[in-house]
Amino acid sequence: MVKEFWNHSACGEHLYMIGEDLKSQFNNQLEERYRLEPMILEFVDFPHWKQKQVLEIGVGLGADHQLFASNGALLYGCDLTERAIIYTKQRLELFHLHSNLEVADANQLPYQNDIFELVYSWGVIHHSPGIELSIKEIHRVLKPGGMGKVMIYQKYSIVGFMLWIRYALFSGRPWLSMNEIYSRHMESPGTKAYTIKQAKKLFGNFSEVQIKTCLSHGDLLTSKAGQRHEGVLLSVARMIHPRWFIKKCLSGNGIFMLITVKK
Ligand SMILES: C[S@@+](CC[C@H](N)C(=O)[O-])C[C@H]1O[C@@H](n2cnc3c(N)ncnc32)[C@H](O)[C@@H]1O
Repeated sequence: MVKEFWNHSACGEHLYMIGEDLKSQFNNQLEERYRLEPMILEFVDFPHWKQKQVLEIGVGLGADHQLFASNGALLYGCDLTERAIIYTKQRLELFHLHSNLEVADANQLPYQNDIFELVYSWGVIHHSPGIELSIKEIHRVLKPGGMGKVMIYQKYSIVGFMLWIRYALFSGRPWLSMNEIYSRHMESPGTKAYTIKQAKKLFGNFSEVQIKTCLSHGDLLTSKAGQRHEGVLLSVARMIHPRWFIKKCLSGNGIFMLITVKK
């Protein structure tokens, strides 16, 4: 089901692939991505990975992959879907860049042990039916001393609360748990979200684990929502959303959980 969902439309495809030709569509998507998610640039520090063995899991439309490639990383990338791999191959070809791309599941990576200096994955492994397995695989393919940089969703986030209000409270089913809400209404079916404590435990086999959270454009409703949400309620919510209050008092409740680990 996860594969069907993302094969139907890649992440952000119908919202941001706008333009007359493929190159301008990729340029537009890239620009929007770092306007909306500038924290990626600081989190990853793309120039740092020049001439280093890097794997990206879940490349999607390939914007981050393009930045790794243009900064000279020795690059590998995979995604569960053919659609994402085709898009990313087309993107790199158009910009005369190189990577070793293939369709693969994070739960069963087709790479040898101990080969990457960085494994990067943004918003991917929480879709995987067995996140523990994906994390085990990340650990396996990293060199000793190698780093993992992973974004997964934080459970008690503003996005989560908004989805709960919409799909539990306003739908007359206030007994629905946050886990059920993420699983049914956040992107591909079965999506999960975690507390910081749970994330620390999940990555417990690494020698160092640093976790920070940040507010996203989704928490602040400053973008078009994901591919599943639109309508009058959302338009009203955008108008009355207390952004100043969220930034001041709930800045720890962003949906993005940025995890940096060392093997
Ligand atoms: C929300 S999108 C994120 C894509 C990209 N990282 C980005 O930030 O735009 C999730 C991506 O993860 C991929 N994906 C989901 N489960 C996966 C798995 N088990 N292994 C590899 N990729 C997976 C999907 O096909 C999709 O391209």
